[in-house]
Amino acid sequence: MKIRLILVLLLFFPLFVFAEELKPINLPAPNTKGGRPLMQALKERKSQREFSSKELPIQVLSDLLWAANGINRPEISHHTAPTSMNMQEIDIYVVKSDGAYLYDAENNDLIQIVSGDIRSLAGSQPFVKDAPLNLVYVADLSKMSRISIQEKDFYSATDTGFISQNVYLFCSSAGLATVVRGWVDKVALAKALKLRPNQKIILAQTIGYPK
Ligand SMILES: Cc1cc2nc3c(=O)[nH]c(=O)nc-3n(C[C@H](O)[C@H](O)[C@H](O)COP(=O)(O)O)c2cc1C
Repeated sequence: MKIRLILVLLLFFPLFVFAEELKPINLPAPNTKGGRPLMQALKERKSQREFSSKELPIQVLSDLLWAANGINRPEISHHTAPTSMNMQEIDIYVVKSDGAYLYDAENNDLIQIVSGDIRSLAGSQPFVKDAPLNLVYVADLSKMSRISIQEKDFYSATDTGFISQNVYLFCSSAGLATVVRGWVDKVALAKALKLRPNQKIILAQTIGYPK
């Protein structure tokens, strides 16, 4: 009888059954105070390629994503990084040991895209699969429809650069290690992240505590 009830529920309410799993993870509000001052962060900014496997606390993840490209002027929905013509075309995918997520800056949420560990697909260098966090910067070309292909390439690259440098400076300020990376099998990673044809991976960036 119980089994029959479960089968009926699965048949008629699949959305209900999976809704819980797909609920976004609400990040704590970013802490916009503290950290090493800007000039010191600039003095110490560098690329590092050795990471501890220690996970980042969720507060640090929230602070990092906000620094990367969070909304700093909610009244006009503008972000910590500039974008050409305010196209806001770069999405940040968050690849962690427990899954891959899309950062929803508007709601300060993580939307789960993949469950399970796909870190080994987030880059071609050995440290990538063991570091706790990889960010993947993805251009949504559908938000760039007004401009030429060359401009799409140029502005998605420059706009990503600003986000990546925000991450470098946050990491330097917070005592974290990071390196931005172009060396990624973009076809395999796009497939793993279930990207649409009009989404293009620009760069990835590894983050963690220094080893
Ligand atoms: C667009 C771009 C792509 C990069 N790709 C990689 C990469 O795939 N792997 C890597 O280890 N470092 C990569 N780097 C990091 C550079 O090697 C690094 O910034 C450079 O050696 C200077 O070192 P610094 O960042 O410590 O000043 C990249 C940097 C940039 C700006």
